Formats: sequence, structure tokens, C-alpha cells
Amino acid sequence: MVDNAAEAVVDPGQALPFATRQRYAEAIEQAKAAASAYYDGDEILVDDATYDAVLARIAATEAAHPHWRAAGSPTGAVAGGAAAGGDIEHSSPMLGLDNVFAEDQLRKWAARLEKLLGRPAAGYTVEPKIDGLAVAAWYADGRLVRIATRGDGRTGEDVTGTARRAAGLPGRLSTEATIEIRGEVFMTDADFEVANAMRAEHDEPVFAHPRSAAAGTLRADKRGYHAPLSFFAYAVHGLDAAMPRSAAVAALETLGVKTTASSGPGMTICDGIDEVLAAVEALREARATLGFGVDGAVIKADTPADRELAGSSSKAPRWAIAYKFPADTRTTTLLGIDVQVGRTGVLTPVATLAPVLFGGVKVTSATLHNFDDLVRRNVRVGDTVFVRRAGDVIPEVVGAKLDERPAGSVPFLPPAHCPRCGGEIDRSQKRWRCTGGRICGARQALAYYATRNAMDIEGLGEKILDQLVGEGMVTDPADLYDLDAGTLATLERFAELSSGKLVAGIAASKGRPLSRLLTALGIRMAGRAMSRRLAAHFGTMRALLAATIDDLQAVDGVGPERAVTIAADLAELTPLIDRLADRGVTMTEPGHDRPGPDGEEPASAPLRKPDGTPMKVVVTGAVPGLTRDEGNEAVERLGGTASGSVSGRTDLVVVGAGAGSKVDKAIALGVRTMPAERFAALLAALTAGEPVTLDEFLTG
Ligand code: IVH
Repeated sequence: MVDNAAEAVVDPGQALPFATRQRYAEAIEQAKAAASAYYDGDEILVDDATYDAVLARIAATEAAHPHWRAAGSPTGAVAGGAAAGGDIEHSSPMLGLDNVFAEDQLRKWAARLEKLLGRPAAGYTVEPKIDGLAVAAWYADGRLVRIATRGDGRTGEDVTGTARRAAGLPGRLSTEATIEIRGEVFMTDADFEVANAMRAEHDEPVFAHPRSAAAGTLRADKRGYHAPLSFFAYAVHGLDAAMPRSAAVAALETLGVKTTASSGPGMTICDGIDEVLAAVEALREARATLGFGVDGAVIKADTPADRELAGSSSKAPRWAIAYKFPADTRTTTLLGIDVQVGRTGVLTPVATLAPVLFGGVKVTSATLHNFDDLVRRNVRVGDTVFVRRAGDVIPEVVGAKLDERPAGSVPFLPPAHCPRCGGEIDRSQKRWRCTGGRICGARQALAYYATRNAMDIEGLGEKILDQLVGEGMVTDPADLYDLDAGTLATLERFAELSSGKLVAGIAASKGRPLSRLLTALGIRMAGRAMSRRLAAHFGTMRALLAATIDDLQAVDGVGPERAVTIAADLAELTPLIDRLADRGVTMTEPGHDRPGPDGEEPASAPLRKPDGTPMKVVVTGAVPGLTRDEGNEAVERLGGTASGSVSGRTDLVVVGAGAGSKVDKAIALGVRTMPAERFAALLAALTAGEPVTLDEFLTG
């Protein structure tokens, strides 16, 4: 493609024109090929973001150099300029939609519409823009007689044979109506999996994306299998022409047709553009949970009178607009495939990717699900791959661009043995497992649990762990608390004295605060600092386990990806956490000082700002009596957030012996500093239960 994938949906108003006519002409050819694949083929040549970006640059070039404009430019065409027509003539052109990408553009569109109407629109509807293929379906006396693709907008191809199988498009209506309906044929995410399983069974290459799967299925009349399709109508001709179009679409439901109004997010009727914006946001938030691709919101003036007055250009109606969401599928290079072994011994192939941005979030790895899937998706290291990140879901590699496969690439060789313990692999299920199951990795997990910064269990060294795991006495941390000195003493080389000490050490660990326990559990993306923040924020394990993805994101430094990973690990760890709680392990954070749900104020939190938010504090150099980790822990205990680097957003830098450039940076940025001795004194005062404020210690 002309440029690499765009970071987000490109605002055409900001796109750069091409520098030369030659580059403009090349871009047109590429966009046409991509559009033709999009509308007519099974394969997607470029992801949506790249296509939108190129189209925006073509439009910008045409605005800057109108005389360069090529006759076949996709910016002037009804369906991307390259889609083929067919034998069936549409009753009226199947137009496209103009796009906006941001609130101000939507407001401009509404203002223009208002100007055309000479008054505000009588009402708007907001509905999902379904990521599928437009079709027109004709019913005569209640019977489905013909279905055609959008084609070039004027004529389309007959796809009655395949499209009639789409769920939501009944063979017979509930009355003998003679109508034409227009809508989108698409494939749900679940059906996409089914379709690809069917393809694999028939030794056919898998589809890279639900839309290309829907396109391929729509055109494949002569296959020996039928992949599932779905349909949502968004317009109807032939019902009472005077009623609001939302009512006409709703009436379709009573005839038995599924419509965008009955889709998960439904159709919202809005009075004014502020309500429209709220509905668009609600749709954006719901997008990832719908189970089918939605690439934006469609906003339409609802009354026939407004539509009539506003009219259409040759390409798109002026009474409707698509508010596009950033594409959830992008392309990047597959740099490597690693095999991760989960806590229960499940082996998962994980892709390492050249960094790719999804709406500002950098993604460098994605799941390949399982080894069957990896083979089915036919991806190899070095391939350009499609990566999908739908909302909060962990990114996945959906397929490779086979036409760009580098010469000499080799298929991925799945591991012959467990990469963690070298044990045998059980391949009888889709999810391969190390036959060691939980034992594989138990030693590693237990050793981590016992480390100084985690549960700090004295006496639980490597040799003892090897013995305990080897004898089958311990497979997870909860088993540790069931050990008794008598049983331990029966182990080889285990004197009574040391068994007593170990049991005492293990028992002492029950009193460690929640932040240590969270660290000890080895939750992915939650190391020591993050565990402290989680503990400080939620206060109790119960509150943390009850947290939603949104709740987790309220914690400083937790973005969508981290929130999902933490939530997934916590869910997996819940049985272990329950067993630890049964054995008396502490599940709370002492000194947890956030206001409770009833608005209660914390006892003493000198590192909290007047508005209750934590101060960002950097501890640099040595604090008397504390390790670096304990220094950070103290910051969190005092209500602050510990951070490793100084920036303009830092509120305080604690300066100890041996501090370096961070102090200079703090001074240059005008950030307050505090000598480490005073910080230690502040801590001591708090520990002694004195009510303290930061100011006393800053100045004193
Ligand atoms: S209304 C004249 N509503 O988006 C108005 N289109 O980019 C025509 N689409 O060709 C379209 N969901 O294939 C409309 N709720 C929806 C839609 C929708 C998906 C597709 C449709 C159209 C394309 C325009």
C-alpha cells in the first residue's frame, strides 16, 4: 500500500495530499483494487484504517490539485469506484454514506443539514453501522423472491441462493406485503469461527475477517457446505411512505425481519445533536460486546419530509452520515511465535508483533489461541498479518496476507515437549496441555510466592521447594499452609528444628498485607508497584475480585489491556485465593485509607491531594531504614502513587543519599522535593498514630 496502516481513522480534512501526480495515480489503482476486493472478493487486501487513510489522501490531493483528478477516482464513485455491477437493476441507486470521524465534524454536518432544511431536523436516529455487505431483498405478496448485492450501486449481482439462508431474512413475511428491504448481510464472530472450521474441514484456506467470510459465503452457491450468515435491515420501501423511517423499520420487525433496531444496541431516536452524540458514545462502548462487527454509527434524519428536503448527491444522501469508529483490524508484521505455558499447564502460541496502534494503544503481542487454530489461520513468522482488537478483548491474529508472504518462509513447528518443564504434551484436546498440569510451573510459582518482596517466607529455599514439589506435598501456595512440622521432619535431610522454623515462617506470611499477596500470586501485568496500587485502591480482595474492567481502569496506570489481563488472571486464581483465605491468609490492606463507599474520610493520608486523588511521588536515593521497594510501599500507604520517573505531573520527589539526575529534573520542573530523613520521620509519626500533614514535614 502507499503508506503503512494509519494510527486511527484519518480525518480527511487533515490528510496530506500526495506530492506527485504519479503517486496519486498509484494510490488510485491501489484503492480501487482494495475496494474491489472489499466489495467483490473473499480476501481483504488492506485493513479499513489503511483504506480510509489512502482514500483521505486521494481526496486531499484532488482538493489541492483539481486538474489531476482521474476519471475513475474512487472518491466520486457510488461504491468505491471498483465494485462490479450485475444483472439486477436497483429500483433506485443504492447510495453510500459520507463519513465523519469526530464530534466537530458531526456538528458541522448537522449545521449544514439544518441550513438546507431552514430549521433543525425534526428528529434523528442513531443505529449501528454493520460491517458487512449491502443487499436489496424483494418480497412479493410476502414471499422472498430475489436478493441482489449493492454492486456498483445501480445494478447488482443475484445472490438469492445464498443470501436467503441468512438468519433474519425470512422466506415468508407474516403478511402478504410487497416490499423492498435494504440491509446488511454479515457474519457474527461466533459464525465466523464456525465458517472457518468448515473451510478447514474442506481443506480450503480460512477467511481472514468476518466481512470477507460473509462476502465469500454470499458468492459461493456451489459449495458442499453452507457457512452461516446473518442479516439486519436498515431501510424499507413499500410500507407507508409518510411515517418516520424509524417507525417503518420497526414495522419490519413485526413482519419477521431482523433490523438494526433489534440489534444489540438498537436504534435510538434523538432530539438534537447532543443526544445523537450521547447515543454514538453508548454505541462505541457497547461495540466490543455485540458479537458482530460494527464499524461506526449511522445517523439519519428520521422524517420523510426532512429527507426529501435535504436530498442526495450522486454518492450519498445529505440526510444521513456515518460516524466511523477506529478500525478494529490492522495489519502488521509477525515477528515471532512464542509458546506460553499457563498456570494450569495449558500451552498457548502467542504472536510477537511489530508495534501497531489501536486508537492510541500500542499492541506488540496477540494471541494465536491454540495450535489447531495456528495451522488453520496459516500464519508464519515474517507474514504481514491481520490483527484484531475488539474493545477490551485481548488482541488476536486473525490471518495472514498470503500474497505478501516472504519467499522462503517456513511453517511454524509446534513444540514437541513442554517448553517450561520439558514434559510430555497432551494433544488430545484443542488446548494442548503439559501432562505435568499444575505441577509444571508449580516450583516456579511457589518460589516466586515465597520471595522477599512477595510473601517473604523464611526458610523456603530452592532445595526444600524441590523436595516438597517432588514428593507431591505441595502443588500450589495454599498447600504450604497445610504443612505441619511432623510431616516435614519425615523428609530426607530435614531436621526437626528447621521444619519447625519453616512452618513458623509460613504461618507468619499469613499476616502480609494484600499488596504482598497480589505480588506473590504472579498476576500478569501486575508487578510489585501495580499490586500496591491495586491493594491501595480496592483495600480488600473481595472488592478487587468484584471489580469490573472499568473499575480496574480507575487505578492509575491501568489501561484497557492491563485491566483485561488482570481480570482474567484474577478469575483464574479465584479458587486458589479462596483456599488461601480459608487458611487465614490476610486479604486486606492495612492502612487502606480511601474513603469508604459511605464517603468516610481516611484516617491519615498526607500524600493525598485536597481533592482526594493520590499525589504522584518519586523516591530517589536511599530512605533511612527502608529498601527501595519499602520506600514505594510507604508512599502508597501514605495515600500517594509511587512512580519511577519525574515529569511535570510529579507532585513530590523524596531525595535520599545517592540520588542522581532525578533531583535536577525535579528542580528544573519546579517539583517539590523532600529530604528522605523527613519522609522517614513522616512515616514514623504516622506509624505512631499521630495525625500528620505533609506541610509540617516539608517545612520542618
Ligand atoms: S444506510 C442511503 N444504515 O454502510 C443510505 N447503511 O458506507 C444507505 N451500512 O452501503 C445506507 N449499516 O452497506 C445504512 N445502519 C446502516 C448501515 C449501513 C451498514 C452500510 C451499507 C452502506 C454502507 C455505506
